[in-house]
Amino acid sequence: MTLILGIETSCDETATSVVADGKRILSNIVASQTEFHEKYGGVVPEIASRKHLELINPVINEALERARVDFSGLSAIAVTVGPGLVGALLVGMAAAKALSYALELPLIGVNHLEAHIYVNFLEHPRLRPPLVALVVSGGHTMLVYMREDWTFELLGETLDDAAGEAFDKIARFLGLGYPGGPIIDELSRKGNPEAIPFPRAMIDSPSYNFSLSGLKTSVLNYVSGLRRERKEISVPNLVASFQAAIVDVQVAKVLRAARERRADRILLAGGVAANTALRKKLAHEAEKLRVRLYYPSPYLCTDNAAMVACVGYYHLRAGKTIGLDANVDANLKLGT
Ligand code: KG4
Ligand code: ZN
Repeated sequence: MTLILGIETSCDETATSVVADGKRILSNIVASQTEFHEKYGGVVPEIASRKHLELINPVINEALERARVDFSGLSAIAVTVGPGLVGALLVGMAAAKALSYALELPLIGVNHLEAHIYVNFLEHPRLRPPLVALVVSGGHTMLVYMREDWTFELLGETLDDAAGEAFDKIARFLGLGYPGGPIIDELSRKGNPEAIPFPRAMIDSPSYNFSLSGLKTSVLNYVSGLRRERKEISVPNLVASFQAAIVDVQVAKVLRAARERRADRILLAGGVAANTALRKKLAHEAEKLRVRLYYPSPYLCTDNAAMVACVGYYHLRAGKTIGLDANVDANLKLGT
């Protein structure tokens, strides 16, 4: 049995996990720093690095304890090397290097975006490319065509805000809390998504790129207008309409990409893949086209280290390890 310890510290979750043979999750620890960033309405890089430092050793121990494994039982250490916040990535990398050196274990560098995509294969073992992947998180919004394993053709990406970032900014503006995605998702269930016709930017454009900043401005203007006129705002209707505008554009683009590439499989990846409205609408529309939709369980959509250990297993099998002189890369691209 191959036991891999995964370490993920690219943003504001200090996460560790032990995964057996790339598919069985023995432990999955996510120490969220949300409460420390909440009052700023977003992640503060310096706070993230400092909290990772405090949390990394305890969460490594906890992952081993929960998995009932000790250091000597591990086969390799896999760590996220990018993309992400450089100071945050460095904490995970330093811990992984120390373990690799002290335990004489292979060290494996994992691309965070690839981990978000590949965690789908952990949960759906028979799923394989060719497929179209929609990667939507706090930092990314991209549409990717995978002709085969480990080949990523970037079809389009956001020209401004990432989807998760838009959710977080609107929630912050409305004073709803942080992170905004799950809060808006929940509140929207009580609202009417057709109440306010917010713009669906670039929905008919031939490009696969996205633009979300105009939508954000429309929401801000709409709310300011109502406030000026001292009219009451239905927050559930507002956020449901905002969410629907994001979902409609994503659904339209991902389906068009699947049709044009003749891919009969779509997968969702990243924190926003947990969004219930996105899952529901895409599942409904994909079925009409006989395209199969895959997405991870909600706890594996947002940042975690099981996805890192999972990719680590594939790399280990392929002999892809890194040296102790390896560095992190805040801007790491897919497929590199
Ligand atoms: O993948 P992730 O944990 O971190 C990054 O790699 O960025 O994604 C976090 C993002 C946050 O912006 C959060 O608001 C969003 O994912 N998110 C959601 C939902 N759950 C998390 N957005 C919409 N609906 C959700 N249910
Ligand atoms: Zn992520």
